[in-house]
Amino acid sequence: MRRAPLTLLAQEWIVQAIAPGDTVLDATVGNGHDTLFLAERVAPGGCVWGLDIQQAALDAARERLAAVTDLRLELRLLGHEHLSSLNTGALKAAMFNLGYLPGSSHTVVTRPDTTCRALEQVVARLRPGGRCSILAYIGHPGGAEEADAVRQWCATLEPGRFLWRAGNPPGTPDTAPRLHLIERME
Ligand SMILES: C[S@@+](CC[C@H](N)C(=O)[O-])C[C@H]1O[C@@H](n2cnc3c(N)ncnc32)[C@H](O)[C@@H]1O
Repeated sequence: MRRAPLTLLAQEWIVQAIAPGDTVLDATVGNGHDTLFLAERVAPGGCVWGLDIQQAALDAARERLAAVTDLRLELRLLGHEHLSSLNTGALKAAMFNLGYLPGSSHTVVTRPDTTCRALEQVVARLRPGGRCSILAYIGHPGGAEEADAVRQWCATLEPGRFLWRAGNPPGTPDTAPRLHLIERME
């Protein structure tokens, strides 16, 4: 399946921070493309946590990852805003691909308040050098508001502790999704 270029930019950001044996999080499993991407890079010996609020998403991801061996795969039917209830340990990377599950109801979407609460919990668990990517879509109802909330939340990150930059290349049209890239520096 062809991936959107911004999705690839998010993966390029993350791949530089992870290695076999690491623990990572897919905060929005969806159809499991990012889960598979993470799994293939932290195996052997790593651990992938994957969260989604739809069982169909977790089922799709489990099937997609069936061939990846020597990996601890922890898929949970749980909103990412409840991350703190899980014993994940420190994370080397986390990916958020916001919005709705392609091919499914557009009413089950990520939302500004829960997304920002999840981001807060994720950055608190990032290892030094750990990275997070957030891809926010603006084409669906509520998407632009969520993208704004994410940008405003990113702007609250403590400079010196976290690096934050917009990942959209110069000249990206205003209608494109918004990519945010975060790294914990210390
Ligand atoms: C755009 S899709 C993710 C695509 C996925 N990364 C992939 O590679 O296929 C967004 C997903 O977020 C999920 N979602 C919505 N609210 C959520 C929440 N509070 N916590 C975790 N996942 C949520 C949706 O069910 C949907 O599957």
